[in-house]
Amino acid sequence: MVLRAMERRTKTRVMPKQAETEITLRDVTVRYKMAGGGTKTVLHRLNAEIRAGEFVAVLGETGCGKSTLLRMVLGQEFPSDGAVTVDGKPVTRIDARCGYVPQKYALFPDRTVMQNVLYGPENAFCGWMGRLLPRFWRFRRELRAEAAQLLLRMGLKAADFGKYPMQLSGGMQQRVAIAQALLMRPPVLLMDEAFSALDPLTRSSLQQQMKDLWMETKPTVLFVTHNTSEALLLATRVLVLKPHVEGETESNVLMDMQVPHTNEPLAVRKRTREFEQLREHVKQCAFRETETGLIAGATTAQVQEMPRRGDAAE
Ligand SMILES: Nc1ncnc2c1ncn2[C@@H]1O[C@H](COP(=O)(O)OP(=O)(O)OP(=O)(O)O)[C@@H](O)[C@H]1O
Ligand SMILES: [Mg+2]
Repeated sequence: MVLRAMERRTKTRVMPKQAETEITLRDVTVRYKMAGGGTKTVLHRLNAEIRAGEFVAVLGETGCGKSTLLRMVLGQEFPSDGAVTVDGKPVTRIDARCGYVPQKYALFPDRTVMQNVLYGPENAFCGWMGRLLPRFWRFRRELRAEAAQLLLRMGLKAADFGKYPMQLSGGMQQRVAIAQALLMRPPVLLMDEAFSALDPLTRSSLQQQMKDLWMETKPTVLFVTHNTSEALLLATRVLVLKPHVEGETESNVLMDMQVPHTNEPLAVRKRTREFEQLREHVKQCAFRETETGLIAGATTAQVQEMPRRGDAAE
């Protein structure tokens, strides 16, 4: 009887149904205490309604608060003012429905690739008591098969599954962290520069995989990137943030734009004239070129006055 009750419980906990999940940011302000006294405002009066199944790319120059925003939705930190809600409920602790790929990959150094990927779901299975259930071993077999499939899709080889993180390159560790976040098909995916450590070829292939995976289960995604093309290829909506300047009353959302969704392979999409125009539009409206790259905050007029250089954001 107890075992039956546990099985019923685990069934719902281990394989959550793909839920419709929307995220709301209402007047979200984040202030950090500074070491020498005083505070620094990072996010200021951020408002956004992110509908279930939207793929939102978050762009903006370094330090404007992109990672902070993801941590607020995850429930790792909380706003100083305003509210973040997921499915209409305020976020009060780390939300198990969120798959999270942090900016710095965080794998257990003493666990193999496969053990790292399985760690979360196995522990969600009623702790050690759950392991007494025959269902656990069936579930583990299925999960292992799914994890293997996902790791292969991420470009790892079967021979890598038994390796430890220190035996892998940074890019490979990053791909393991992505597989880890995707395994349970979470209804919300928070990805912080998940592809930044990858070479251009692997990055293109993972972008296509990411798009395909999103099309399969339609999670709600917040995807931080510094790459304008990547944002426009993957996302259905682009949010560009700019750093908050003390004393400014406006929000630090510089641009909030819907992106037309197409089913073309990304390699084809990238070469279309429509895509090129879209990319130019975002760059002209939201970014300003400097010696070191593109930074958020330009007006169209400012950019038009500047001589063109190579695309520093790609
Ligand atoms: N816990 C903290 N305490 C104090 N300041 C913090 C804390 N976390 C972040 N900050 C500051 O908040 C600002 C925004 O940080 P955040 O990591 O969100 O930026 P980002 O947009 O993700 O930048 P990047 O593109 O470089 O990753 C930075 O100036 C950072 O130093
Ligand atoms: Mg960051």
